[in-house]
Amino acid sequence: MTSKIWGGRFSAGPSAIMEEINVSVGFDQRLAKQDLNGSRAHCTMLVAQGIVTKEDGDAIQEGLTRIEKEIAGGNFLFKRALEDVHMNIEGRLADLIGAPAGRLHTARSRNDQVATDFRMWVRAAIETLNEEIRKLQSVLIDKAEEHAATIMPGFTHLQAAQPVSFGHHLMAYVEMFGRDRSRLKDARARLNECPLGAGALAGTSFPIDRHLTAEKLNFDRPMANSMDAVSDRDFALDFLAAAAILSTHMSRLAEEMVNWSSAQFGFIRFSDAFSTGSSMMPQKRNPDAAELVRGKTGRVYGALTALLTVMKGLPLTYSKDMQEDKEIVFATFDTLELCLAATSGMVVDMKPNPERMLESAAAGFTTATDLADWLTQALNIPFREAHHITGKVVKLAEGKNCLLSDLPLEDMQQAEPRITKEVFNVLTPAASAASRTSFGGTAPDNVRAQVKAARERFLK
Ligand code: ARG
Repeated sequence: MTSKIWGGRFSAGPSAIMEEINVSVGFDQRLAKQDLNGSRAHCTMLVAQGIVTKEDGDAIQEGLTRIEKEIAGGNFLFKRALEDVHMNIEGRLADLIGAPAGRLHTARSRNDQVATDFRMWVRAAIETLNEEIRKLQSVLIDKAEEHAATIMPGFTHLQAAQPVSFGHHLMAYVEMFGRDRSRLKDARARLNECPLGAGALAGTSFPIDRHLTAEKLNFDRPMANSMDAVSDRDFALDFLAAAAILSTHMSRLAEEMVNWSSAQFGFIRFSDAFSTGSSMMPQKRNPDAAELVRGKTGRVYGALTALLTVMKGLPLTYSKDMQEDKEIVFATFDTLELCLAATSGMVVDMKPNPERMLESAAAGFTTATDLADWLTQALNIPFREAHHITGKVVKLAEGKNCLLSDLPLEDMQQAEPRITKEVFNVLTPAASAASRTSFGGTAPDNVRAQVKAARERFLK
């Protein structure tokens, strides 16, 4: 009978609601490959240990191979009634080979099975992302090399601060993405222990060989504690945390692209491939892809918060709450792949406007620090005093509404009589940037050296 309270689409009553809330095969079928490999390794071990006969083992392996082909060919029917990917595969194995199928689950629980499958999935996802971040670094490095001597304003507080090389600015992101790769690599190293053989939670009385299954599945070792093995999802949290930081970096670059491509900045232009028009304002070229990379960051942070929240109150060991771990990790991976592709695409596509950048680099008295440094270096004036004199010079230039480099020497000498015409060598944005030769500084020659070093560090 249909319940008045449940009502709606759950017309079949409580069992339909139960299926709806319990079913995971709609999304966990993404674990099919890992599940098949896990089952293969488990079966091999059961035979090696004399727990299952060779004959039954062979039948199981053959059945698993047929299932793999069915899935690859799109001929595998995932059934909601069988709840999850594990029971779908085991159910199909029984259809195909009959009785021996029932021996596969000896000394195994879905609890250690799903933990093993999911670890292998996250491991593969990390490897894929590592490659995609590497590609992004590669296009950034190429762009940086091309624009090592393109001068733009560097900002603090989004106020023009000092001239910098556009290449240097891009190389800052290469470093950030390098650390993202390193964080993912750390996560991979930590996750690479095998839960299989933990059973439901307490281990098993069968004489299994967990070292063998761990080795067959390319794990470094079996997890040491069976209760930990089926309980924790910190490997997924590690992944999501690294993903959140990676998204932050992509979002900041996207934000810069949004700014740079506006008419007010005019630093870069996207081709039609990465801009969209407005339905009302014909003049518009909107950087939608950059905005969406920025916007999608919200989902990734949400995933991290969601899984932390799922886990925080769970007593050991497994609880069904943990089934909530997968969709958000899958979705995060998909989002990252898309955002990485879009970001790489935009980096290749963006066309800088060096004249406009240079002009902007000179505005806002961005070489004032160079003047102060010159006063100290050439005239041996203490920096504090030089800073004060420079303030006066800036005020004079402001009064005349001209650039520092266009202020007549006589005006400068009003502020400090010892200033000579040599000062003009340091007052242009290009000279300013070129003088920043300290390690990690923005001088174009430094940037070229950085590019070379980065290719060694990140692209080899
Ligand atoms: N679909 C389940 C999950 O993703 C598999 C494990 C089920 N275990 C259990 N004891 N019901 O977590």
